[in-house]
Amino acid sequence: VPISNIRNFCIIAHIDHGKSTLADKLLQLTGTVHKREMKEQFLDNMDLERERGITIKLQAARMRYVLDGEPFCLNLIDTPGHVDFSYEVSRSLAACEGALLVVDASQGVEAQTLANVYLALENNLEIIPVLNKIDLPGAEPDRVCQEIEEIIGLDCSEAIRCSAKEGIGIAEILSAIIKKIPPPKDTARNPLRALIFDSYYDPYRGVIVYFRVIDGTIKKGDRIYFMASGTDHIADEIGVLSPNQLEVDELFAGEVGYLSASIKSVADARVGDTITHFGKQAESALPGYEEATPMVFCGLFPVDADQFPELRDALEKLQLNDAALKFEPETSSAMGFGFRCGFLGLLHMEIVQERLEREYDLTLITTAPSVVYRVHCANGEIVECSNPSSLPEPGKRRFIEEPFVKIEMLSPKEYIGPLMELGQERRGVFKEMNYITENRASIIYELPLAEMVGDFFDQLKSRSKGYASMEYSFVGYSESDLVKLDIQINGEPVEPLATIVHKDKAYAVGRALTQKLKELIPRQMFKVPIQACIGAKVIASESLSAIRKDVLAKCYGGDITRKKKLLRKQAEGKKRMKAIGRVEVPQEAFMAVLRLE
Ligand code: GTP
Repeated sequence: VPISNIRNFCIIAHIDHGKSTLADKLLQLTGTVHKREMKEQFLDNMDLERERGITIKLQAARMRYVLDGEPFCLNLIDTPGHVDFSYEVSRSLAACEGALLVVDASQGVEAQTLANVYLALENNLEIIPVLNKIDLPGAEPDRVCQEIEEIIGLDCSEAIRCSAKEGIGIAEILSAIIKKIPPPKDTARNPLRALIFDSYYDPYRGVIVYFRVIDGTIKKGDRIYFMASGTDHIADEIGVLSPNQLEVDELFAGEVGYLSASIKSVADARVGDTITHFGKQAESALPGYEEATPMVFCGLFPVDADQFPELRDALEKLQLNDAALKFEPETSSAMGFGFRCGFLGLLHMEIVQERLEREYDLTLITTAPSVVYRVHCANGEIVECSNPSSLPEPGKRRFIEEPFVKIEMLSPKEYIGPLMELGQERRGVFKEMNYITENRASIIYELPLAEMVGDFFDQLKSRSKGYASMEYSFVGYSESDLVKLDIQINGEPVEPLATIVHKDKAYAVGRALTQKLKELIPRQMFKVPIQACIGAKVIASESLSAIRKDVLAKCYGGDITRKKKLLRKQAEGKKRMKAIGRVEVPQEAFMAVLRLE
């Protein structure tokens, strides 16, 4: 088709508002994927994603659609739905001219809807509002239209009402895409510039790069150059996504496709990089490239020390596919050999942990996540510290800075009070509050990222009975009065339990943490003191009384199967323990600091 008949678009939505369901229906109606080959939700094709019902990796699909006798080519670029991946969202939006804004008609505008709309507006996209789930008895499309107009300022007089589930309104959406979204600019004669919006590692072909040609053309066999990574490769294979990979010889400005070029790691073909021709380079790269900066770190240690080499192999393999994952070896007297790993955010961290255990069959102990502190030392040096146990001694440091985030919470007005309390408890600085509609407010706080790591989101949900949503973005580093809190168990310092806390909270955290550890650590054959200290000073102390633990004591009579079952249970229970000195410490204890009351 001519370039005037190409449309590149994406779908933006709050989690669970129906993005994947709608994408599937678009693929079905255009005959791109037939119902019987459709696994549930084609676009989310990682198992983990399907189970968790979230979109992690973005992908693309090319659809053919005939409107009034004229054939069109519609490229749908999928966007990940979580704030951890907002950089990837922004790059996939930059590859499009328009976006469907899907809002659940029974819910309304949520925090992620807003964040994604802002990103789309920054990228100058044409936005088509779509109200989904009109089949639900609780759907209020008129109210939600009004909400979108008031909050976002988007004209909703032609908003499309649909039910992705029932297949209502799908043809209207396709025709709006064609009529409202502009075609790409014809810049095929310019030097090549293609934007990478996704890449993944294929063990047989190396990295597969998904890109949108912004200017120029790219042919099979071309020698290409990645402007940010500074590497060059031969494009062995190029093709389109229909949605399965289909080889073609050439792709022109405006088109979306994939290539493979014997690239060994996704770090060499990062999202946001610009592909140009080697030797005939474009003058400047496309705007918006950013390095991935891990914001959250934790220690990963194999329960069984023999699994250390396997853990390293697994991390190396995962990194081939995940340019944002960082890791380096960490040794601790308490935990033995493991790795300190860096992640974009908490969800990213959980996904990696889960994949390591599931796909690589490792049993791991994970230590509580930490942010990256910037320590200004007495000698003028600035040290980045992502591991509380390695914080320079008080005498060696002048002050500590920590990362702050801006959070926006959207909530029905009856929960404003509880949510402001939450912001306040987490050292938040109140910024502003606005009623976005008569009944709903937007509340903005700035607070330390460290206060968000852990159960902030759970608290937001429980204090608003599930009705509030939130988004956050990094604002920068600021000085805080922080101290290191050490934990000693049975007289031995346990490095992985050390945390960095605000001075004003240190006593309360110390007390709560020792109490929590007392609950979580099983009683031993001997008495075990548990202490929290700042420097040499003990600020809280508990002790576990001795017990003789005999699981079989509960078994009267001689039922052998029951006995076996109990023993098996005990063995499983043992699995995620780490011996700290003579004390067995379970996994939960390492996370205790996140769940203090
Ligand atoms: P993420 O990928 O996690 O961002 O979610 P999503 O926005 O892709 O949502 P998804 O398509 O997975 O839909 C979420 C839930 O809403 C699923 O249980 C769907 O079956 C349901 N759903 C989607 N569209 C409709 C609809 O039109 N009507 C009704 N009743 N349910 C729908």
